[in-house]
Amino acid sequence: MAGVARLCREAGVACRVSMERMMCCGFGACGTCNVAMTDGTYKSCCKDGPVFDAEEVAW
Ligand code: FES
Repeated sequence: MAGVARLCREAGVACRVSMERMMCCGFGACGTCNVAMTDGTYKSCCKDGPVFDAEEVAW
């Protein structure tokens, strides 16, 4: 998925990705499914995603 995101960035094509993470609580409380963002923060895959703008994800 990171490769597709890179190809899209190089081609100037918008890309959204559906992330897969192990999930325990499913409502944003445990942090198990955190996804690192390019701004240094984390988002919960279960609550904030699972679909993210590929440019936001810190691959
Ligand atoms: S599964 Fe617990 S925060 Fe996402």
